[in-house]
Amino acid sequence: MDLAAPAGAPKLNADAPWDAFDPHAYIDRNYRELLDVDAEIIAYVRDHFSDHFRGHFERPVLGIDVGAGANLYPALSMLPWCKEITQLELSRANVEYLREQRVNFDPGWDSFWRVLREGPAYRDIDENRRARFADAVRVERGNLFDLVRRPAHWAIGTMFFVAESMSDSHAEFRRGVACFMRALAPGAPFAAAFMARSTGYDVGDEHFPACDVDELQVHQSLRPYAGKVAVLGLKKPTDMVRPGHEGMILALGHRNSVVHF
Ligand SMILES: C[S@@+](CC[C@H](N)C(=O)[O-])C[C@H]1O[C@@H](n2cnc3c(N)ncnc32)[C@H](O)[C@@H]1O
Repeated sequence: MDLAAPAGAPKLNADAPWDAFDPHAYIDRNYRELLDVDAEIIAYVRDHFSDHFRGHFERPVLGIDVGAGANLYPALSMLPWCKEITQLELSRANVEYLREQRVNFDPGWDSFWRVLREGPAYRDIDENRRARFADAVRVERGNLFDLVRRPAHWAIGTMFFVAESMSDSHAEFRRGVACFMRALAPGAPFAAAFMARSTGYDVGDEHFPACDVDELQVHQSLRPYAGKVAVLGLKKPTDMVRPGHEGMILALGHRNSVVHF
């Protein structure tokens, strides 16, 4: 009897080979060099978090980067204000990569840091950034869907290319966004990035599923959990480093005060 899923059947999060995700192949494809679109995203995120904390930063807070994978810049973007940053990640291979990077991150991430350093809060910790990062980061192997057990826990959060890049199910996309948002405390600033209209992606020899979303669907998924949210469509990188999509979507906002269960 053939128990394989029929062609065209939805590929759910639990079906994809996350432990076979090759972080080095992923970096080679996406983050070996700083692309203009990432520089644009980083600048928006830097300004959003800086605006939030300017003038009312009392004490360092807890931050979370959900589905951190092999990307350090979301965690770096929270560094000036965090005493602890949880990098939550499901894949064993990515967890191993993140644990190595925590101690002394690769010089390749410095070109991403240089965009952050244009903000004064980042400049203030420039010389100590590696020690600060090593001190703050906690790499946690876990499933984003389990964040429902830790509501309103984190005071700042990021989730980059995860909810739409972990299955081809729109229901799981919405659930992923909801789990991320519910984990944030009322008023917490957040940044979330999404591939626009993705058809899935290859990392090394493995194929991973994605869910085809546009700006409106991103906005609709966030609106119940965010007071104000800006959703920005960003151009597709001209060099096609990430094929199979139509650009990127960045959402910036604050968790609203209503905790939804
Ligand atoms: C496309 S990658 C994005 C990685 C990184 N955030 C970035 O900005 O490039 C998707 C990531 O989500 C992780 N992931 C997939 N399903 C997950 C789940 N249920 N819980 C936590 N992480 C998950 C994958 O292992 C992978 O690292």
